[in-house]
Amino acid sequence: MNAISHSLEPVDSFDYVIFGATGDLTMRKLLPALYRRFAEGQVPEDSRIVGTARSPLDDASYRERARKALGEHVRAEELDDATVDRFLGLVHYVSLNGAESTGNWDALKSLLASGAPAADRVRVFYLATAPDLYGDIARNVDEKGLRTDTSRIVLEKPIGTDLDTARKVNEGVGRHFPENSIFRIDHYLGKEAVQNIIALRFANPMLERMWDRESIEYVQITAAETVGLEGRGGYYDGSGALRDMIQNHLLQVLTVVAMERPASLDADALRDEKVRVLKSLKPLDRANLRANVSRGQYVQGTTGGKPVPAYREELPGETPSNTETFVALKAEIDTPRWQGVPFYLRSGKRMPEKLTEVVIQFRAGEPGLFGEARPGSRLVIRVQPNESVTLPLFVKHPGNSFGLEEVDALSRLGEPRRVVFRDSYEGLMLDAVKGSPALFVRKDETEAAWQWVTPILEGWREDTAGPDTYEAGTWGPESARELLRQAGHSWVEDIAA
Ligand code: BG6
Repeated sequence: MNAISHSLEPVDSFDYVIFGATGDLTMRKLLPALYRRFAEGQVPEDSRIVGTARSPLDDASYRERARKALGEHVRAEELDDATVDRFLGLVHYVSLNGAESTGNWDALKSLLASGAPAADRVRVFYLATAPDLYGDIARNVDEKGLRTDTSRIVLEKPIGTDLDTARKVNEGVGRHFPENSIFRIDHYLGKEAVQNIIALRFANPMLERMWDRESIEYVQITAAETVGLEGRGGYYDGSGALRDMIQNHLLQVLTVVAMERPASLDADALRDEKVRVLKSLKPLDRANLRANVSRGQYVQGTTGGKPVPAYREELPGETPSNTETFVALKAEIDTPRWQGVPFYLRSGKRMPEKLTEVVIQFRAGEPGLFGEARPGSRLVIRVQPNESVTLPLFVKHPGNSFGLEEVDALSRLGEPRRVVFRDSYEGLMLDAVKGSPALFVRKDETEAAWQWVTPILEGWREDTAGPDTYEAGTWGPESARELLRQAGHSWVEDIAA
């Protein structure tokens, strides 16, 4: 099964083996996601969730950790003791360093073999560890005889830190798992509103016809967060906003906004088109970096009415650092459809609000019947919070005059719609069980994204000036505004203001 399908039917019984099972991601996202799908009746009772990590825990103590995590990360109205107990009955733990070939592999193997599972029972190996361990874990899973014909391996981001390291990870895992069993997760593709872009574009002929350079002046894709480091300094300082958000999440959103109509919703048809977009991005490198990319780092400021420290002060030991906590850039896609249309991407920590949004700015009209030129319409796809799609159009004022007013022509999505998945991991984790890769990132996609991002990183390395600063709680440095001003454009909050 290849096409996009977040069907809510129960899946067949499976075994989910999580490497990195005591980590933050497992506790905050993976266990809560599996719990919710279990509570909704999608996960059969004889499935197993096996946590592995180095800590010397047993089933009982790991279950207690899992219970606590559910208490913290699942909404109270979705938790009931009996369901939690039944869910924890699925949970096991094997103390194991997945990157080493010695250790408790036999215990894991016999646990998975116990209960005489059907020969075609699906095994999912979920790697939520440091990415430089992925190749070793894949090798051990394979060489210890744990990989079956119906096994898949799920890789969390980041896949590498540049093109070379990404290739190494892909090659390391690819030696032991065929590409069609490798599921690279990008949780933005699990967001309902991101998938909805595909429906909006290709299920509405009116929009589809207007989706090109003739009608669209520019596109903005913003993923803003109010949080700062959240105690992840070790990881984040070695990464920065370009690697952490742009290389994966924002470029994925860009591909669904910009791709050509795929031949079908089949996984490869869809991903072929997404790769084409990535490969058509005009290169940004040291020669044109300054004119097209703004990087920033926050200094002290205020978010949510509270004073917050500077990025450097949040780092352990207040280490001096040039890591960017904000990036805004102008991407251009070298295809007939998009020639000359800027795609402005931006993402940052310590912004004024948590907001992910795509803005499609249509071109202005000619002066005419109603006096001066009408400003172009703006289609706003709000991914989070409160998913919505709005398209204000001008209509006539009621009464005997031709005064105009703007009304929102699209009904809002969101609260009135049934919330199926509270979190994007829910649908994706079960897609891996179903073997449905459409919403996962193919090898060539990751590498094409790195191919475009790596020269930016190299350019920065040579630019000793480092990032511009911005006050925490603002929309980033002045250079981000300047980036658009050159073209006579503005970020959406400046237009609205
Ligand atoms: C993660 C990044 O991939 O996405 C985090 O590593 C970021 O730094 C997070 O906070 C944002 O995800 P979401 O779903 O809250 O927008």
